[in-house]
Amino acid sequence: MREAILAELYRQGGSYISGTQLAARLGVSRVAVWKHIEALKEKGYIITAVSGKGYCLEDTSSIVRVENLKNILQTRFIAHDYRYYPCLNSTNEMAYRLLREGELPPGTMVVAGEQTGGKGRRGRHWESPRGGLWFSLVLTPALPMQQTALLSLVCAVAVCRALNEYLPAKRARIKWPNDIQIGGRKIAGILLETAGEIDAARYVIAGIGINSNIELDKLAPELRNNTTSLLNENHCLVDNTALLATVAYSLEKYYDQFLQQGFSPVLQEFKDCCCHLGQAIQVDMGNRVVEGINSDIDDYGSLVIDRGASRAKITTGDVRLVNEREE
Ligand code: BTN
Repeated sequence: MREAILAELYRQGGSYISGTQLAARLGVSRVAVWKHIEALKEKGYIITAVSGKGYCLEDTSSIVRVENLKNILQTRFIAHDYRYYPCLNSTNEMAYRLLREGELPPGTMVVAGEQTGGKGRRGRHWESPRGGLWFSLVLTPALPMQQTALLSLVCAVAVCRALNEYLPAKRARIKWPNDIQIGGRKIAGILLETAGEIDAARYVIAGIGINSNIELDKLAPELRNNTTSLLNENHCLVDNTALLATVAYSLEKYYDQFLQQGFSPVLQEFKDCCCHLGQAIQVDMGNRVVEGINSDIDDYGSLVIDRGASRAKITTGDVRLVNEREE
């Protein structure tokens, strides 16, 4: 019942709902509603009650608070420089603009409460309403451009491992190259943008979007069936500040490992998290579709597809499992 009340309050999106309405919607008495509200307040939810208006949930958990972040951050450099904007077109665009305007320290994080023009992979739009965690991380690895592509797999492992700390009952998995999914539904995505010369990357902007406190009915109808969120999985709000600190720690751990030990250890973790290794898949590369058994992911992060007598190595595309199965 407590979860149902929370869901109703959350659905109001910061507006009031009367005790009578809540009670009628959930088929309980107003006194029962009041008792559950008191219990929720004890759990830390900020719910204001105004006579004549009803109850309103203050969604503080979705706002990343810089003063709180500083206290809990356990990183050497990631997110030490931190910029929060309540509403942006795209955090990747803003990070790029800040880079053009002057030096940004490596590890800078640009975070938005919501994005109006969120960018996804392959030119797609990324829906980013209030409640989610939308950020871009600026990195300056001393790597040739070609190797920076591996960073998108490194980030995928880091985000996947971090999200699993928030999922007691289910496991997040990676769909190559960097979609994070639960039971075939997307919960997070990564967009890497790089600039520099062939032999030396100048910077990498790793844009990461996590559907944390997102009600699925706030998303476009066509996204609802193949998308999920932490709220949808766990039926409770997550503190986005704590989530960002966890993800930052994980990003730094795998980034350092990659730079110090090479791609091999991260690749092992990637394979462990991957949801289609050994299975029949189709890869849509825009101009053609390749189908076969995904027998491996090679040392360059490419998908290896076995098709009877022949073998294909794929560096870009969208993967679809031929026999999607629930985990
Ligand atoms: C994808 O799976 O298509 C990648 C989605 C990446 C979305 C994030 S949200 C923060 C950052 N800013 C953007 O405009 N995009 C990335």
